[in-house]
Amino acid sequence: MVKVWGSERVGLRLSPLNPFNDIKDSDPQATFYYAVNALNLFNLAYLHVTEMGAEAPGLGGPIFNVKELRDICQGIYITNGGYDKTKANTVLEKNEADAVAFGVPYLANPDLASRFHKDAKLNIPNEKTFYVGEEKGYTDYPTMSPR
Ligand SMILES: Cc1cc2nc3c(=O)[nH]c(=O)nc-3n(C[C@H](O)[C@H](O)[C@H](O)COP(=O)(O)O)c2cc1C
Repeated sequence: MVKVWGSERVGLRLSPLNPFNDIKDSDPQATFYYAVNALNLFNLAYLHVTEMGAEAPGLGGPIFNVKELRDICQGIYITNGGYDKTKANTVLEKNEADAVAFGVPYLANPDLASRFHKDAKLNIPNEKTFYVGEEKGYTDYPTMSPR
């Protein structure tokens, strides 16, 4: 997945261990070390690496510590996969990423940033409406009610 950032630079996302749609690599550690080193030459706006799949060992290929890719990435590094506010703040404090991206929490909470800011409760995501298309489960979760 490639995202445009401004008009001149692009950011890029890698999913080293994500087994979605039967993706599998025989040696993801070697493949993604090679890829990140190669991408370092391109002055990317950011490199976004999802840790998705690391919790399902072996499905996407032999497991390795995806977080290591941060150490060889020479640019802005965004992590993702199963983070909540506390876990995200912890990786940022430890400088294990420059930013954390949220998928499901944002899907279920269109005002996620304000909820984090206020330490408000989050809507519970409904997995049954993932990947089905249409707007249900994508654009109809409620925002916080004004007090
Ligand atoms: C409904 C849904 C659709 C998604 N579609 C894509 C996609 O098209 N491409 C992709 O790389 N990741 C996709 N993802 C994965 C998310 O980008 C994210 O990596 C994943 O949900 C883990 O992050 P999270 O724990 O913050 O949700 C999707 C996730 C969900 C729940």
